[in-house]
Amino acid sequence: MTKPRVLTGITTTGTPHLGNYVGAIRPAIAASKTGEFDSFYFLADLHALIKCQDPAKVHQSTKEIAATWLALGLDTDNVVFYRQSDVPEISQLNWILSCMAAKGLMNRAHAYKAAVDKNQEEGEDPDFGVTMGLFGYPVLMAADILMFNAHKVPVGKDQIQHIEMARDIAGRFNHHFGEHFTQPEAIVDDSVAVLQGLDGRKMSKSYNNTIPLFLTEKQLKKHINKIKTNLLEPGEPKDPDTSTVFQVWQAFANAEQTEYMRKEFENGIAWGEAKRQLFELINAEISDAREQYNALMEDPSLVENKLREGAAKARDKAAPLLAAVTKAVGIYSLA
Ligand code: TRP
Repeated sequence: MTKPRVLTGITTTGTPHLGNYVGAIRPAIAASKTGEFDSFYFLADLHALIKCQDPAKVHQSTKEIAATWLALGLDTDNVVFYRQSDVPEISQLNWILSCMAAKGLMNRAHAYKAAVDKNQEEGEDPDFGVTMGLFGYPVLMAADILMFNAHKVPVGKDQIQHIEMARDIAGRFNHHFGEHFTQPEAIVDDSVAVLQGLDGRKMSKSYNNTIPLFLTEKQLKKHINKIKTNLLEPGEPKDPDTSTVFQVWQAFANAEQTEYMRKEFENGIAWGEAKRQLFELINAEISDAREQYNALMEDPSLVENKLREGAAKARDKAAPLLAAVTKAVGIYSLA
């Protein structure tokens, strides 16, 4: 039996934080280790250009994200791990799919619509500042997915619409040119934690409330100390279920440790002490990986080599499908 193919991309525009780790990286690495899936994970550096026109940032983020996944033990013998831009077949497919994707469908994409709404609110031209990259973003994402005939695509809720668009585009193509593409399915795992950030909102780069994953111990402590709490004194019982400190604790704790901290809250643990224990818990989980990460960041040639190996594997899979698709649309040898 062939294994279900799972594929997901990470846009290279930021530094990995604890929210990324808990919500995406840790479950993806765990899933890859079960051996139940044929996994494809990639760095969406072409997607990064949509949001970020700072070359140093795109480059640095690519290095950080790749080093993070490798340092955390991603087994590249079991997972095809590559950089989107290293697989030119994806860009070629992007164009072919663009010619099958309805503009009306893209008009409804939420990232584009949000930009238009904002312009209208501000009395600007509706398309002010909107690039073709932003407008065509869902087509490139469809190309990422369809290029490998992925069955399952683990994503956040905000990306479900894009998977539906990929299905739509695949369906149109298949209808017109014959069955070439698998219809992908979004997987949104509600059981993985959406981590709260320093201010209690969802931890997100756009809220500027993150705790980066691989800080020095000193900096990690400092960040944890910045997590917002109320003014209850030591000895006063505290409500775990409305506390960000507890919520983050839970994301790193086993059942027993969670119960323990719940009791500590009831007993009125001091915020400083709860945060100290939280630091210890997180640090114990990530300190080995941090060492690995620092070594990889210092000498990224190993990272580069891994990505190149991954790209070679990815291209081996992509090339035959692209050839078939190109032929199906009428582009092939005359002789
Ligand atoms: N757009 C996705 C995000 O911002 C990243 C991404 C790009 C992706 N291509 C993909 C995710 C293909 C899944 C499949 O999160």
